Amino acid sequence: MAQAHDMVQKPTPRFQKLRCLSIAGVMFFSSSIMATNVNAAEEGMTELKKVLQGQIELMKPELQKKVKGLSMDTKMSLMAILAMHSEYSDKATMRQVMTEVLSDFQAAVTGIMTDNPEMAAASARRLANHRIPVGGLLPYLGMENINDERLALLVGFNDSVEGNALKLAEAAEAGDMGKAATLVGSISSGCVACHGVFRGKPGVSDLLR
Ligand code: HEC
Repeated sequence: MAQAHDMVQKPTPRFQKLRCLSIAGVMFFSSSIMATNVNAAEEGMTELKKVLQGQIELMKPELQKKVKGLSMDTKMSLMAILAMHSEYSDKATMRQVMTEVLSDFQAAVTGIMTDNPEMAAASARRLANHRIPVGGLLPYLGMENINDERLALLVGFNDSVEGNALKLAEAAEAGDMGKAATLVGSISSGCVACHGVFRGKPGVSDLLR
């Protein structure tokens, strides 16, 4: 776990900006919080609140209970991650979304390898704004991971993947394919680190002894 943690980078200013928007989520969970800074992001907050409400309604009561018991910090981080995405699916599972993410990642690498900055940038931007699966991320992470300690790792993983994908897009657009190439490694470190914590071994058969 320590190793997984080392692989991710510190939150970027972009993330910090979004923490303001994430206050919507805090208000959603705890109406007793007096948020002073909300006016600027009011429209986004209303939208985010609706999305969250929908996600929580879809959860089984035992998961709902765990989510409501999370700390304010964790809830804020979750809101900030959601706020970085604008596509929410009402049917795609996390595994399906991940398969799309893998395709976009591969397409970004193809763009780099074929010296096609437009392909690299568009694919990386698509990766960064991958759709959010039905019910959000939490239902797919396993009940044992729905606690403050584990979920605190999500922000770093998200930033490592999405943050570096956006940097890759910028580098490609600026014609710096060398820099774009180095970011491929940073992105894949984020994938691997998150899988190390939140994903079991894929496709294990229960028909084997
Ligand atoms: C937020 C943590 C997280 C990040 C970041 C992440 N994944 Fe995943 N990924 C998961 C989880 C959890 C699953 C299992 C989902 C399930 O089976 O319901 C998964 C599953 C997958 C799968 C489906 C097959 C399998 O192994 O179960 C692929 C492919 C995949 N991820 C690719 C990627 C790629 C490529 C990246 C980086 C560009 C990435 N993932 C980043 C959490 C993450």
